[in-house]
Amino acid sequence: MSVVKLLLSYLLFKEAHALSGNFWHITDLHWDDTFNLSDDPELVCNSSGRRPATNAGKYGDYVCDSPLHLIISSVNAMKDILPDPDFIVWTGDNTPHVPDKDMGEERVLYIMSNLTHIIKQVFPHTKVYTALGNHDYHQKNQLPTFTNNIYNQTAEMWKDWLDPESQETFRKGGFYTEKLLSRTGFRMLVLNTNLYYDQNRETLGMDDPAGQLQWADRVLTEAANNKEKVYIIGHVPPGFFEKKRSKPWFRSEFNKEYLDLIQRHHSVILGQFFGHHHTDSFRMFYSSEEPRSPISAMFLSPGVTPWKTTLPGVEDGANNPGIRVFEYDTETLLVKDVVTYYLNLTRANGARGRWEKEYRLTESFRVPDASPASMHQVLERIANSQCHLQKYYEFNSVSYDLTECDSDCRIDHVCAAREVDFEKYNNCLKAEGSAAIHGCGLLPLISVAVSLVLASR
Ligand SMILES: *[C@@H]1O[C@H](CO)[C@@H](O)[C@H](O)[C@H]1NC(C)=O
Ligand SMILES: *[C@@H]1O[C@H](CO)[C@@H](O)[C@H](O)[C@H]1NC(C)=O
Ligand SMILES: *[C@@H]1O[C@H](CO)[C@@H](O)[C@H](O)[C@H]1NC(C)=O
Ligand SMILES: *[C@@H]1O[C@H](CO)[C@@H](O)[C@H](O)[C@H]1NC(C)=O
Ligand SMILES: *[C@@H]1O[C@H](CO)[C@@H](O)[C@H](O)[C@H]1NC(C)=O
Ligand SMILES: [Zn+2]
Ligand SMILES: [Zn+2]
Repeated sequence: MSVVKLLLSYLLFKEAHALSGNFWHITDLHWDDTFNLSDDPELVCNSSGRRPATNAGKYGDYVCDSPLHLIISSVNAMKDILPDPDFIVWTGDNTPHVPDKDMGEERVLYIMSNLTHIIKQVFPHTKVYTALGNHDYHQKNQLPTFTNNIYNQTAEMWKDWLDPESQETFRKGGFYTEKLLSRTGFRMLVLNTNLYYDQNRETLGMDDPAGQLQWADRVLTEAANNKEKVYIIGHVPPGFFEKKRSKPWFRSEFNKEYLDLIQRHHSVILGQFFGHHHTDSFRMFYSSEEPRSPISAMFLSPGVTPWKTTLPGVEDGANNPGIRVFEYDTETLLVKDVVTYYLNLTRANGARGRWEKEYRLTESFRVPDASPASMHQVLERIANSQCHLQKYYEFNSVSYDLTECDSDCRIDHVCAAREVDFEKYNNCLKAEGSAAIHGCGLLPLISVAVSLVLASR
């Protein structure tokens, strides 16, 4: 082989392979350590709150948080599917949905250390970036703005995954930043957005809890000066819950501040990865000037727990356990694709548990990648075609709820994905209420059939 040919094939190889990396995102494991295959369906797990667990098996039940077996199975599935990811993102909510009186600080820490141990055992050499969830504290949701035993103990638990400086900010406020994979030019920003949750009484009336907003603004400004690219991870997302109309999580002033932060710094932010919903969705961020252009996308990854939410107004809000791989360009951090894997809980309990691919974003929605422009395209397809809407809707519950997404459902999902801002969301509800939508692509199919028939005559 000539030198030129060799060089050429090397360059081609580099082009095709060297630029692609991948990482796992897992979230909302919610281990219920009381899960027990009792004969009395009301006593299977404390997280059911006495709702009967009628299809309980060793992988769990839709009214229960995860039994240990499900958690171990999900971490093993990660190892089987992609054993050597560049890193793992783990965005919190590790304890079960039970009353505070049954929880306590010690049990929170026991559960978190147990899960940390499992992940470390299976991925001993992988860097893990971890954010706290609203359930990773006692009392739940009340994450404080100052140092405390839980921040301290978790900083200790995660010390192999944290730089010394990260440990320090984590102990103070549960957030940190460091170079992504220790590489110059790449940064991870881990936020404690539980401080903005409207259920958090600790931060009531505060302008900037734990000084996190000012800190994040500084980190992102420095990132721009140093020509860095940044990923942001956190637990509670801004904007609205797509399964319940007009249900936000952040206090309104914090919601605004977060949106401002992203609009100011979007040029260095290449992706946002959050949890908390247990569903599979995404949020678009647009520029503040007209015409609005897509500037950032936030990916909401499905939970491992299948737990049916008790939030009033949500009907049948359970999901299948999900885990996901993000594929990204290692030079630019552009998100190239999203592959979601899931366990059909009913089937797993019946016969054998098998984690399988649910879908690949670029295939299912016919986009070139998962850039903000492409995610905008995905959203417009969902908004305008019943076919895409239905597909998205089934993925939203990780293929648990396969009922039809009707016109109210469409409005809830489209407006939640499109508008993080409270006022714009309200306007979207009004505007979409009167929008028309295309059917499910039967017309093109019919015309193909007709032309085939005509051609064969
Ligand atoms: C498991 O179920 C049995 C039988 O219903 C019950 O006696 C026991 O207390 C349960 N264990 C736990 C840890 O809940
Ligand atoms: C589970 O619930 C029962 C009944 O409410 C309670 O007595 C028990 O302490 C709970 N167990 C745990 C470990 O939370
Ligand atoms: C995690 O919990 C399980 C079940 O209680 C136990 O068997 C296991 O030893 C625990 N592991 C750690 C590291 O605590
Ligand atoms: C947490 O750790 C910091 C630094 O090690 C220490 O100053 C602080 O007193 C600790 N706080 C608690 C509540 O443990
Ligand atoms: C999950 O498994 C059940 C039981 O086998 C089956 O009825 C259902 O269609 C499956 N769901 C999906 C999305 O494959
Ligand atoms: Zn959760
Ligand atoms: Zn949560």
